[in-house]
Amino acid sequence: MSSHITAHDLSFVPFISEAEIAERVAAIGQQLRQQYEGKRPVFICLLNGAFVFAADLVRATGIECEVAFVRLASYEGTASTGRISTVLGIDFEVKNRHIIIVEDIVDSGRTLHHFMGQLSQMETASVALAVLLFKPEALLMPVQIDYLGFEIPNKFVVGYGLDYDGLCRNLPSIYQLATI
Ligand code: IMP
Ligand code: MG
Repeated sequence: MSSHITAHDLSFVPFISEAEIAERVAAIGQQLRQQYEGKRPVFICLLNGAFVFAADLVRATGIECEVAFVRLASYEGTASTGRISTVLGIDFEVKNRHIIIVEDIVDSGRTLHHFMGQLSQMETASVALAVLLFKPEALLMPVQIDYLGFEIPNKFVVGYGLDYDGLCRNLPSIYQLATI
């Protein structure tokens, strides 16, 4: 694996490799296939961070499905602001549909708690949550994750869709903030 990288003023070290990510994504894809084959679920990719994970995950399932996008915002720099705003909302029919929310990371849990609350008021057939990374030590609001890639320590990470002030989303693997 390549060594450390820098973005803006910060330094990051390799944390989860492309191969490790691919293995977990394939495994979750198979689980989803078993659960949702024939149900034509709607994957809701939470922008921006989940776009890489969602692209790989929907292809790993190999099932008939739809893909939609929602954008909520709660983050600035390396710390959650606690304010959630809807930038791009649900503009498609979710009634009687099986929904799978795809998110890059659960940190405080505020974003998903807020969004699950919105969805629970709609008459969906079911709602499940697929998350690539989970920081249990940072959790403030309850969130039930149905499909999880990795549980990680409470440290800022970038790559594979995750950014630091706009940078690093296109890195194929995941990096962790270097401790000085
Ligand atoms: P939460 O609402 O605090 O759970 O924050 C979730 C959102 O914050 C995620 O969708 C990410 O976009 C962003 N986020 C949380 N932790 C990190 C991180 O370590 N690196 C990059 N973005 C993060
Ligand atoms: Mg996100």
